[in-house]
Parts: sequence; structure tokens; C-alpha cells
Amino acid sequence: MIFKSKKIQENKPAEESAEPVRAEKQRGLSQFAMGDIAVSVHKMDLFYGSFQALKNINMEIREKEITAFIGPSGCGKSTFLKSLNRMNDLVDGCKITGEIKIGDTDIYQRGVDLARLRKNVGMVFQRPNPLAMSVYDNIAYGPRTHGIRNKKQLDEIVEKALQGAAIWDEVKDRLKKSALGLSGGQQQRICIARALAVEPDVLLMDEATSALDPISTSKIEDLIADLKKSYTIVIVTHNMQQATRISDRCAFFLHGELVEVDDTEKLFSVPKDKRTEDYITGRFG
Ligand SMILES: Nc1ncnc2c1ncn2[C@@H]1O[C@H](COP(=O)(O)OP(=O)(O)OP(=O)(O)O)[C@@H](O)[C@H]1O
Ligand SMILES: [Mg+2]
Repeated sequence: MIFKSKKIQENKPAEESAEPVRAEKQRGLSQFAMGDIAVSVHKMDLFYGSFQALKNINMEIREKEITAFIGPSGCGKSTFLKSLNRMNDLVDGCKITGEIKIGDTDIYQRGVDLARLRKNVGMVFQRPNPLAMSVYDNIAYGPRTHGIRNKKQLDEIVEKALQGAAIWDEVKDRLKKSALGLSGGQQQRICIARALAVEPDVLLMDEATSALDPISTSKIEDLIADLKKSYTIVIVTHNMQQATRISDRCAFFLHGELVEVDDTEKLFSVPKDKRTEDYITGRFG
């Protein structure tokens, strides 16, 4: 199958393999077997009613890299991102054909556990959207819904997630205060911590810094760069500098098509497609 790399096919089940690839398994976190390719999409079409928003998307997203989606407004970036954890299921009239695999699980097959999928593929949105509760409860919310009740264990998870999202020092003395009292940049890091608290494999971020000032943006960019050691990260951004600064791979979308995907450096220096070149040089969009 073309969407399974050779390396993945060679992967043995966790029990038989001493490979570090299985680190997540050993930490007991991973819900799906993962190899070099974290996400593979094959002949995917998406319709909102009769409108086709995504056309024949074929793509592989590599594990523990940052992949950026770029393209003009309305080209389908958010739609595609949301398809990766089935957030479009919530949209009436949305129909998806083709195949999306996370690890080796086809996530659109019948019987897929959506709660487990969304735990494994976390999402951070453009506007920080902390819950109207304390900082602590925001982070503990996910783990609690997954059945963790032990106070000491929750304390540890909360601290680790806040540390992971580079916000611990700023909030450790106000864990019981409302998350809504934090600044936008802090709230966004709370949202990242909330996503990390359930220990996902893949983190999706839809323009996660576009509502933030340059200092908060820079903090979150540093954080994302750091998080890729442990997570596969997919970002949507309108900011080309941001894409070049932090992404390893970059995908250019236009009118629902994936025009080109390549190493970021290559895509920005020697784009293969004229439409990519026009876009990155500011000739349209
Ligand atoms: N829930 C929906 N129902 C119907 N059409 C939708 C829905 N969501 C998005 N669309 C349409 O699908 C297309 C792709 O939208 P999408 O939000 O994915 O674009 P985008 O690339 O993320 O744009 P932006 O950069 O403005 O966020 C657009 O034409 C949009 O109008
Ligand atoms: Mg969008």
C-alpha cells in the first residue's frame, strides 16, 4: 500500500520489538501503533453538502516533525486539519470519502472510538478557549473524563502539562484561580497544556498564534519547536515567516487541492508548482 512506508511495515508489535519507536507504548501513552509516518491520507474527498471543500488529498505527515499548512483563506486548511480527528463529524451534511490513517488505524472506519481518537489527536484553536474554571481544573478536566480521580496523580499530570506548555512558572501560584483571568498568550498556553494533559501523539494547531502579540507568539513558537521532540505537530498558519521559522514540512493548499508538499526550505526556495511560487511571493492570496 502506498501510504504505508516500508519502515512502518517492518515495525513489529510493541511486545516483540525493542525499538525506541515504541517509546510511547512503553510510557503507556500511545493509543495507536506509530512508525515513521504518523498520519497518512489517501484519496480523500470532503463535501459540505454539494460543495466539495477538499479534492483528492494524498499526503503523509511524519512523526515528530512540524508540518505547516498554508494557503489563502477558504482553501480548506482548517477543514483538512479538523478531519484528522473527526471534528467535522459535528458538521451536518459533511461527507468524507477516502482514507485517513493515524498510525495504522483508519479513523473513518466504523467502530473507531472517537473519545480515544480525540485524546490521541489533540487540537488547539485560533482563539484561546479555556473553560470557565480554575487553571487546575482546566488541565485536570481531560484526565478526569478519562477516569483519573487520584489527587496526587492529577497534581502530577497538571504540573507536568503546565511545565510542558511553558506556563508553569507563571501560574503555579494561581492554580485555583480562574483561567479566564489570564492574558491571551497565557490562556493559549493553558489550552496547549490542556491538550498535552491527556498525552496525545499528534497535536493539531489551527492558527494558534494569530490572536497573540509578538512576544506571546514567539513563546509559543519556541514551545512548539520544543514539543516536537515528543509529539507530531500540524499547524495552520497565514504567517509565512512562522512556517519557515518552525516547520520541517510545508503543504500548500489552493481551492481544496493540495498543490504541493515538501521540506519547508525547498518549498520556499524552489517551489515545484507555479501556483505555490505565486502564493509565497505574494502574487495572489
Ligand atoms: N461548516 C461548513 N459548512 C459549509 N461550508 C464550509 C464549512 N466550513 C467550511 N466551509 C467551506 O469550506 C471551504 C474551506 O473552509 P476552511 O475553513 O477549511 O478554509 P481555511 O483554509 O481554513 O480558511 P481560513 O484561512 O480563512 O481559515 C470554504 O469555502 C468554506 O466556506
Ligand atoms: Mg481556517
